[in-house]
Amino acid sequence: MGGLSKKASLFSQQQGTSEDTLILDGGGLLFDSPRITVHKIKQAEINAQGIIKAYNLIGYDAVGITGQDLAAGYDFLNKIKKESNFAWLSANLYLKDSVLPLFQPFLSKMIGNQAITIIGLTGPGLDGDRQLEEKIVIRPWQEILPDLLNTSKIKNTFIILLTDLDRKSCQEITELYPSINLIIQAANQDENISPVPLNETTLLTSTGRKGKFTGLLSISWINGGRWDGRLTAELSRKKIARDRVDLLIDQYTGNPEKTELIKKLQEKRTILSAELAQLELKTSQLEQASYSIKFSAIESTLPDAPDVSQIVEETKRQVNRTGQDEGINRQSPDRSKIISSSFIGWKVCGSCHSAQVASWQTTPHFASFAGLTDTEQQFNRNCIPCHVTGVFSGSEEYALELPEELQLVGCEACHGPGRKHQMDPKGNPTIPPDQVLCLRCHNPENDDSFDFVRDKAKVHP
Ligand code: HEC
Ligand code: HEC
Ligand code: HEC
Ligand code: HEC
Repeated sequence: MGGLSKKASLFSQQQGTSEDTLILDGGGLLFDSPRITVHKIKQAEINAQGIIKAYNLIGYDAVGITGQDLAAGYDFLNKIKKESNFAWLSANLYLKDSVLPLFQPFLSKMIGNQAITIIGLTGPGLDGDRQLEEKIVIRPWQEILPDLLNTSKIKNTFIILLTDLDRKSCQEITELYPSINLIIQAANQDENISPVPLNETTLLTSTGRKGKFTGLLSISWINGGRWDGRLTAELSRKKIARDRVDLLIDQYTGNPEKTELIKKLQEKRTILSAELAQLELKTSQLEQASYSIKFSAIESTLPDAPDVSQIVEETKRQVNRTGQDEGINRQSPDRSKIISSSFIGWKVCGSCHSAQVASWQTTPHFASFAGLTDTEQQFNRNCIPCHVTGVFSGSEEYALELPEELQLVGCEACHGPGRKHQMDPKGNPTIPPDQVLCLRCHNPENDDSFDFVRDKAKVHP
């Protein structure tokens, strides 16, 4: 959610004339995980609706549907669909015993005089990954694609597939159906996948997960064409080289010590530009299709699009309010059962380890709940587990019931529950904290510069 306003400004920078640009997403955009515990569902739904409002503003054309998008159930996704100004595509999600797909199977578009078809295919996901509602079936692509690709509306168009099927299935599909020209994979990998030709007519590409990257794919296409791997790869290499030179020139301009260097760079740029022009000419003469991709990270330095920012902020407030209401309204069962009674809180530790308490109190861990309160996210169940003690591993729903001594990253978040240790320290020594423990919270998404050796020294300064 946080990066959406930056994504929006990046798109509007890149888009140029929007008539010849499609904005697509492979899917899996609504929820963090394929399963949502009952207590978290309301906040997750509000968050998902916020994402849709932002996607509407950004101007998405179509998104694919993955099993994860069904985590709050079909009825919710159907409701979301009605709030979306773009198409939700899946050719193979069906109600049991029904002959019609649940969602729009494909979208037809004209770009210039090029007819384009975007098809959605939902992958089966990993076994045990989620519980699909009983009434819903994901039909295998083998049953769907033959007839679909034979539809007159689709034949002889540029075909894009949005799918979370795995690489092997994508490869099989392209061998059987070379009329598919581009596969945008909603894959669960961290890294971007630069376009790879799976065969002469089909490219596959993907951006890293969790919306941390965007990919701007520029395509020049001739109907009946083929991707030429060698030429386009060279074209793309040269473009990257020229971008790099431009960047350096930008950086050094105005620096009197670099005058000589700038001159050299400008000469290099002229040569590169000439070579690029030649390559482009060659590509067009060969009547071959070419492409180049530019991946961009959603960096914190990017500007925020104000309209999307407003939606993000409003959504966060709404999520927090809902959490607060739920916390207050809930019939609280026996508190001691909710909060694992093996946690005793930092004050008790302090009776024997006053030096460690004093040092810890000077660190951000001591103020980690304040971080949530200050940003008014203290009732957001998604944030709480990493900012408190004792509610890891799927017990987020109890977080709103924590006593004050545990509403921070306390001693026991790292040293483990301490009741037994407190009663008999020698008989029950604590386990030394290791890197794996830290990474549960300091994961790349929340801390991309974590360094165990360096940061360990800051825990007890
Ligand atoms: C009743 C006093 C007492 C309380 C309360 C207590 N400890 Fe300890 N703790 C000790 C003693 C004594 C040792 C040394 C044990 C040994 O030498 O084997 C120790 C050892 C430790 C160590 C290992 C130190 C080392 O040198 O490796 C850690 C970590 C620790 N305690 C954390 C905690 C935490 C966290 C709490 C609160 C949840 C806590 N202790 C509560 C008495 C206490
Ligand atoms: C997986 C664990 C995890 C989750 C979930 C998480 N955080 Fe954090 N958060 C961290 C860690 C680790 C840091 C310290 C980051 C650093 O040192 O760079 C942090 C730092 C912060 C800070 C203070 C530093 C800053 O970036 O301004 C705030 C505020 C914050 N988080 C708010 C939130 C909110 C709001 C949410 C929910 C939307 C959330 N966090 C969810 C782990 C988490
Ligand atoms: C963010 C994780 C974290 C938190 C929170 C934390 N500790 Fe530690 N603690 C560590 C690590 C890591 C070490 C080992 C340091 C090392 O090996 O250099 C340590 C070491 C210790 C030791 C051994 C003596 C020492 O100083 O090396 C004691 C005792 C201890 N901690 C007690 C506490 C108490 C009491 C609290 C709460 C006030 C607390 N710790 C909070 C991570 C943590
Ligand atoms: C339960 C989640 C959790 C665990 C486990 C945890 N941290 Fe943190 N840590 C946080 C949060 C949250 C913050 C940010 C607090 C804030 O600024 O509001 C933070 C902040 C920090 C900071 C200060 C910010 C920075 O980047 O300089 C350091 C250093 C740090 N943690 C080191 C560690 C180390 C080392 C471990 C493992 C021994 C560890 N943490 C384990 C949640 C955790």
